[in-house]
Amino acid sequence: MAETAADAAGSEVRTRSRALHRFALLTAVSTLALIVAGGLVTSTESGLSVPDWPLSYGQLMPPMVGGVFYEHGHRMVATAVGVLTLILAIWLARSESRRWVRRLGVIAVVGVIAQGILGGLTVLFLLPTAVSVAHACLAQAFFCLVVAIAVVTSPRWVPQARPLDGVSLLSALTAGAVFLQLAIGAVMRHTKAGLAIPDFPLSLGRMVPPLESFPVAIAFAHRLWALVVTGVVFATATAAARTGRPALKRAGVFLGSLVLVQIVLGATTVLSGKAVAITTAHVATGALLLGTALALCLGAASRTRASKAPASTISDRRSGSERRGPVLAWK
Ligand code: HEM
Repeated sequence: MAETAADAAGSEVRTRSRALHRFALLTAVSTLALIVAGGLVTSTESGLSVPDWPLSYGQLMPPMVGGVFYEHGHRMVATAVGVLTLILAIWLARSESRRWVRRLGVIAVVGVIAQGILGGLTVLFLLPTAVSVAHACLAQAFFCLVVAIAVVTSPRWVPQARPLDGVSLLSALTAGAVFLQLAIGAVMRHTKAGLAIPDFPLSLGRMVPPLESFPVAIAFAHRLWALVVTGVVFATATAAARTGRPALKRAGVFLGSLVLVQIVLGATTVLSGKAVAITTAHVATGALLLGTALALCLGAASRTRASKAPASTISDRRSGSERRGPVLAWK
């Protein structure tokens, strides 16, 4: 008898390696750590502590003192993420049956190399705004890529045959809105406009400040867009709660909590005069918000275990050893 699409998907799911999925998760978590390390470089203004690239003061391991600790530390974490990405791509190339997922691995390698070159250019050209902003945005795009690879390599992830539902579309919209907010934040940060509006919740003592100067305009745009982001996040979280799928509901609650934390961190960034830890936490939470929105989008596009899906067969048939350890599940 001819194999049905569901049978084909089922056998494809059965061949998925849980070790590969966990390795992809590790790469995603390491990338978030890299974003923190990069955020620390800007927050501590250590960007030019090491004037050369690819070596640091002509060495592989310079003395880790002052700003060199942050700048060279960032390079070391970046190298580790580069190696993880390469291993991930090779692993995908050798064992992943879906061509589009193997391609994501290749794109990730290209992305991490491009990101390394952009990082080097920011140093060699003394932190030009355009390159620094591109480096910040590519970091977030690369994070999205590894999050996507981590989600779709989960043995529980099986795309639905029907068109995307409201939660997928809303969370995709949220991811887009958050990405734009990260880009506005990056422009603000790299044009040193972070404290152009030093008060909060008012802006220069008014609801709408005079917008003639670029630093004030970009800082106010970041505040206004934060309202839009908050709106779409709560619409997404509400839609996720209504699906009756516990994993989606939990992801929605996490997303909603993250946006509230992010607004508090943003306000505290300003009111603390850009304290290093708070500002860096604001950058990292921004990335986490983006990654969560994307994971929710992909998770909502997956079949439930309860539905008549190959994934249910798989999860029921898993052996005891397979049941151990973290996997992303979207019931
Ligand atoms: C949903 C809401 C928000 C998100 C996702 C977000 C995200 C970000 C990100 C990612 C950056 C750094 C970009 C980079 O360097 O690559 C940033 C910068 C910044 N954000 Fe937000 N933000 C949000 C809301 C706010 C709010 C409400 C405030 C309050 C005023 C705020 C204040 C700031 C400031 C002052 C900076 C610049 C810090 C600096 O100059 O070092 N943010 N934001």
